[in-house]
Amino acid sequence: MTMVDEDRRNVLKIFIGSSVALSLGALTTPLVGSVINAKALALKGEYSSVEVVLCENVDNCPEEYSVPISELRQGPKFVLLKKGNMAIPAVFGLVKAADGKEYPAAYNTVCTHFGCPVNPTGGKYLTGFVCPCHGSFFNICNNPNGCPENPDECAKTPDKCKRRPFLEAYVTGGPAPRSLRPIKVVVKGDRVYAVKAYI
Ligand code: FES
Repeated sequence: MTMVDEDRRNVLKIFIGSSVALSLGALTTPLVGSVINAKALALKGEYSSVEVVLCENVDNCPEEYSVPISELRQGPKFVLLKKGNMAIPAVFGLVKAADGKEYPAAYNTVCTHFGCPVNPTGGKYLTGFVCPCHGSFFNICNNPNGCPENPDECAKTPDKCKRRPFLEAYVTGGPAPRSLRPIKVVVKGDRVYAVKAYI
């Protein structure tokens, strides 16, 4: 887990794709620090998405943009993020990563094909999504070091291996042309807040 103290506030910032690991132990103790994963932030350009700022920072973020971590430990939660005349359907959840830690994450549930709402798979943890309309599947990269785009090629030429960013919900089947849009989340106290969404 990477954590950096910041102004003595119990704030832990994470980006969907990015993030700071929350181990089971950390979930039960005060959260201190602030880290944003640069790889995940780089996702922004790849989504051809419009960024919606829900709140400037976690300190002015309304509670309706958040979910208690204790609820996420029971399973993914759907939240409608309202901003002005927009309503962005989102799902919050915990991803169990390859390093054994839990990472909070959130995604815009609008399918990147024709916009049907996707459903999370994986039970208690977020592992991916399926779209009921035309059968697109999305898998969440759960390796903090990224996931090979082409595992066979990466095995042959590791130095040229292209890797998907950690927590990206990428297409594994069906007609969807792009990964699901990420939502930037921040943890403050015992809640996970959505601070930015992409539509
Ligand atoms: S709208 Fe999701 S696969 Fe077509």
